[in-house]
Amino acid sequence: MSTPTIQVGLLGIGTVGSGTWQVLQRNQEEIRRRAGRGIAITMVADLDVARARSIVGDQAQVVSDARDIIRNPAIDIVVELIGGYGIARTLVMEAIAAGKHVVTANKALLAVHGTEIFAAAREKGVVVAFEAAVAGGIPIIKALREGLTANRIEWIAGIINGTTNFILSEMRSKGLDFAEVLKEAQRLGYAEADPTFDIEGIDAAHKATLMSAIGFGIPVQFDKAYVEGITRLSAVDIRYAEQLGYRIKLLGITKRRDSGIELRVHPTLVPTKRLIANVEGAMNAVVVQGDAVGTTLYYGKGAGSEPTASAVVADLVDITRLHTASPLHRVPYLAFQPGEMKDTPILPIDEVVTAFYLRLRVSDEPGVLSRVTTILADQGISIDALLQRESADGEHQTDVIILTHDTVEGRMRVALAQMQALGTVLAPIVSLRKEELA
Ligand code: HSE
Repeated sequence: MSTPTIQVGLLGIGTVGSGTWQVLQRNQEEIRRRAGRGIAITMVADLDVARARSIVGDQAQVVSDARDIIRNPAIDIVVELIGGYGIARTLVMEAIAAGKHVVTANKALLAVHGTEIFAAAREKGVVVAFEAAVAGGIPIIKALREGLTANRIEWIAGIINGTTNFILSEMRSKGLDFAEVLKEAQRLGYAEADPTFDIEGIDAAHKATLMSAIGFGIPVQFDKAYVEGITRLSAVDIRYAEQLGYRIKLLGITKRRDSGIELRVHPTLVPTKRLIANVEGAMNAVVVQGDAVGTTLYYGKGAGSEPTASAVVADLVDITRLHTASPLHRVPYLAFQPGEMKDTPILPIDEVVTAFYLRLRVSDEPGVLSRVTTILADQGISIDALLQRESADGEHQTDVIILTHDTVEGRMRVALAQMQALGTVLAPIVSLRKEELA
């Protein structure tokens, strides 16, 4: 007797949903051979019923009410591709309550409400899979949760937002400022009409939060993440960084320290010689440092129809393979067994340790540099490199660029306030964090 096909209901058939439909259709025979049984989308819910029908034809039932799918006992897996924390949260909770496995690409939902969702799923013995939620087509969840499971993860650092990486790449290669490139990115469809989540680092922080939980066996805690976007970055700092051998990337970083876990998203100077510094355009990449394996790098498309569908379908295959296994024998949602999660604190940004890039606009007169370096020395901050431009003709002011060694951020804040108060510092000091990722 052949095993019945796994039946999937799709909530939302936009960009990722239609990619999921296409990939499942095109590769169904390969997928069946891998999963051990067929996987078919038999129902699709979308408010735009006509458009949904134009994609699936008569090969799946199209409904406008997602609850028709959730209520249908024949559906084994619900794929949530609606996004956001609103109705998506309600529907995911209802699907779990109805005993359905859930696949979602919704990083915002899991980063903010993951604890509640995973607890409900555990209670019902169903899977919530979310490979597509972090770095689109890159199987980073799989790598962290399974491939690297032998390791004590030390840190994870990733370019996990394609929109901002595209903008930073354009700013660097064309020497343009942020606002100009954002407009171009919107025109080309790389940035949304409301780009807030991307450019303010929120999307990256959702993804970093999920990686942090999986990497270190801690609950998802988006509210503890430090988040800084790229909106205040200027082309001149990208240029100075380049002269000093660095590129500026928006990194999501999570790091194990003795006192807790760092979880932060901010523009970061990375040595140009690192592979990740050379990830350009809308591409994503994640570096993971494990104690046994050393450094590993994962690179690929972090968004888009079929790249994201690749991750959704991989989750469908995983669930299909495990469908009949006891929930106790499945891979835990957050990699660590539920009873083994730790409440290691996420450190406040003042306790984070990084190196810094500083740009000071100063009067070109004797003693300026010594006052600045004295302030840094008083805070125990050691200077790694220093660059001073010649003043332009008749200007009597110039840029001083300082790279520091690692320091506790709180000390740098004190030093920044003191330097800013100097009469010879003529403009707001630019400070950016720097990571060697060695
Ligand atoms: N907007 C995201 C990005 C993709 O630019 O990478 C979805 O998370």
